[in-house]
Amino acid sequence: MYDYKEPWKKIIADALNSILTTAGIEDRVTAEQVISEKPPNPEMGDIGFPMFSFAKMLKKGPPQIAQMLAEKIKETNGKNGTAQAQGPYLNVNLDRAQTAKNVLAEVFNNTDDFSFGKTGTMTGKKVMVEFSSPNTNKPLHLGHLRNDVLGESISRIIQKCGAQVRKVCIINDRGIHICKSMLAYKEHGDGKTPESQGVKSDRFVGDFYVCFSKGLKNEVDELINSGTEKETAEANAPSMKKAQEMLRQWEAGDAQTVELWKTMNSWAIEGMKKTYERTGVSFDKYYFESKTYMLGKDEVLKGLQKGIFYKQEDGAVAVDLTEEKLDKKILLRSDGTSIYITQDFGTAIKRYEEWQFDKLIYVVGSEQQYHFKVLFVLLEKLGYTWAKALHHLSYGMVNLPEGKMKSREGTVVDADDLIDSLRDMALAEIREKGREEDIGDPKETAEKIALGALHYFLLQPSPVKDMLFDPKESLSFTGNTGPYLQYMGARISSMMRKAGQSAETIASNADFSLLVGDPEWELIKIILEYPDAISSAAENLDPSNIAGFLYELSKAFSRFYHECPILNCEESALSKARLGLSCAVMFLLKDAFHLVCIPFLDIM
Ligand code: ARG
Repeated sequence: MYDYKEPWKKIIADALNSILTTAGIEDRVTAEQVISEKPPNPEMGDIGFPMFSFAKMLKKGPPQIAQMLAEKIKETNGKNGTAQAQGPYLNVNLDRAQTAKNVLAEVFNNTDDFSFGKTGTMTGKKVMVEFSSPNTNKPLHLGHLRNDVLGESISRIIQKCGAQVRKVCIINDRGIHICKSMLAYKEHGDGKTPESQGVKSDRFVGDFYVCFSKGLKNEVDELINSGTEKETAEANAPSMKKAQEMLRQWEAGDAQTVELWKTMNSWAIEGMKKTYERTGVSFDKYYFESKTYMLGKDEVLKGLQKGIFYKQEDGAVAVDLTEEKLDKKILLRSDGTSIYITQDFGTAIKRYEEWQFDKLIYVVGSEQQYHFKVLFVLLEKLGYTWAKALHHLSYGMVNLPEGKMKSREGTVVDADDLIDSLRDMALAEIREKGREEDIGDPKETAEKIALGALHYFLLQPSPVKDMLFDPKESLSFTGNTGPYLQYMGARISSMMRKAGQSAETIASNADFSLLVGDPEWELIKIILEYPDAISSAAENLDPSNIAGFLYELSKAFSRFYHECPILNCEESALSKARLGLSCAVMFLLKDAFHLVCIPFLDIM
């Protein structure tokens, strides 16, 4: 793996050691101890090396050390560029021709299994990533879209760093929420099916959930109007009581209830899988709460026996976590039914039994921070040493600008509806620009633009931040958007078609050492940063690093494209080198698009 900083770290360490020897000091410096930074502006140099950490050893001020080093290096080195002292920094200007040659050779080295950027920082690690994890009472919504793309993208990024990745999903398919949809269906379904109604099957289930919610609200309002307190009204509304009764019947294995549950769940899950397929999300394994919750229950009872948990007066099993600065928490209800956290014990244990991970990342919204704190502490208390390997990747809320898109419940918008409307907007734009003829299947292209717009917009802010999804802004062809990046890719792709040569031919005919002009160098310097962007995205579990890299790359390419003639360049050798550089950028775009789930378009 070519690392442009490596040779300089060695040069600096050697020079420092020579200075140390002359001064009669016994300490020695290794190349790993030399750290680098990106100078705040390119005029200062390509790499900055701060001298602070060597001050003590040399008994000299950092600026003085930088001076001495600059002189020493001038004496001994020629090939790798130049170094100059600036305050406490030694700033280095890389040799452009040499660097261009090295890095582009690396990019073209293995284009089938694009190895550029594979730093191997996570080689040998087994990482399980849980994401999406829907409930089966309604379809996926906008929040899931953020979750899904975060989970998928992080999985791809850490895999690129050499980790073995297993993508998993827990389907919360039992509990009061699904009973609500079931109850509404039982009362108002009249034997209808998704097929008979021509409705996507998860939407069909969700419609009954909406129906239940409306009915419940009417009952509660009525009770409140007749003088009942809100809380009591909510707990005593007849629909609520019926749903709870249904849950008890389900847990008791009542045949009819179980049958209805199976039917409605299969509708919900079948529909969700279609959405996953549509957005390019996939899982290596689905876990089902209905299959793991009993194991969780057993675990809670074991904890009770061991005295880690206790039984309340009402019979519920609870744990007191005030010592851990957390609250008291119920783990099993007084009627013996399990709650949300119960299944998570079982699910985690089963996962570790099946695949001994070094790390398990739960991609789940920030509103569940407390839940995961409690879960991790309790698994540790129960004696599972791997509990230390559990990590909650908490992400913020995503909202739509007020009044932009109406959802059925008035609060959240269905994932499918949102993608449909993005696709229709993209399609309208394609028609308006009169591009229908050129681009093959306009609807398919519009769908890919929609996904590019959506995914890039969702991954741009760091995960912890709440965000506003602006459909129109996300689709803009200019500015920091997915379609802008896709357009850059399509532009290069079309240039490659015009050139009519394979990448191998282009690469082997190019003398990359000719690429020393400013726009070319600016672009090459960004290419150099790709491996670091990937490893820091992996380390911080933050795909926005890749998003930022892509934007910088596209901007630099755009400048290069405008300022440097490529196919029309009069000097044939330079034309070939520039074509090669463009081709390298296209490979990089493709690779990085994959990491952030943006479809690459050859034509737009
Ligand atoms: N289905 C849950 C919800 O929608 C999220 C599940 C998160 N994962 C977990 N292991 N608890 O709130």
